[in-house]
Amino acid sequence: MAHLIAPSLLSADFSDLKGAVKLVDESPAPWLHLDVMDGVFVPNISFGIPVIRSIRPLTRKVFDTHLMIVDPDPFINVFSDAGADILTVHLEACRHLHRTVQAIKAAGMKAGVSINPHTPVSSLEDIIADLDLVLVMSVNPGFGGQKFIANTYRKLDQLRDLRARRDSKALIEVDGGVGQDNVRELVRHGADVLVAGNSVFNAKDPMAAIVALTNG
Ligand code: DX5
Ligand code: ZN
Repeated sequence: MAHLIAPSLLSADFSDLKGAVKLVDESPAPWLHLDVMDGVFVPNISFGIPVIRSIRPLTRKVFDTHLMIVDPDPFINVFSDAGADILTVHLEACRHLHRTVQAIKAAGMKAGVSINPHTPVSSLEDIIADLDLVLVMSVNPGFGGQKFIANTYRKLDQLRDLRARRDSKALIEVDGGVGQDNVRELVRHGADVLVAGNSVFNAKDPMAAIVALTNG
């Protein structure tokens, strides 16, 4: 499939969230990436459920919700009610990952699992067949605007092999340090979805940046 761009709201001007969501709504990007942080799993706090609920009526784009929170289980239904379409949890943050994935699906959402830069692709071996999405962190989670970690390419190659071997239909998403300089190479290594925060919202012309990333 052709790759998709998921602009990350984390890099938007929070004093004009409506403007940021409208921009994505009018762009060719089919997904909006929403980074939820708890200050425990990652050294930062971003935004959460009330923000997602209040921007939901502004667009029909897919809400690609990336939870960087420990023990997400009690919040799964709440995120579904707030309007999340995809709920991605971190492998490192879940005690019973298989149970969490099943609960996300039971709540009517697509289920994703994210792995940090130090987590090997092989840890997904026994869960990938159950997933709709694997999110490969190409920076350490917590902040926008960080430098892309080049070892990600190796992980993407391994992930593509694992997906084929385990007969999984999971999309492969890359998050962190994605921009015009690496989008083509990431797609060549099998990325289906590319998250872009800084390279979209801090560009001179964010709409042109989304179009350029979409065209590779
Ligand atoms: C980082 C977040 C990312 C972030 C990416 O923890 O998961 O989604 O917004 O930002 P950029 O594209 O600026 O690296
Ligand atoms: Zn993210």
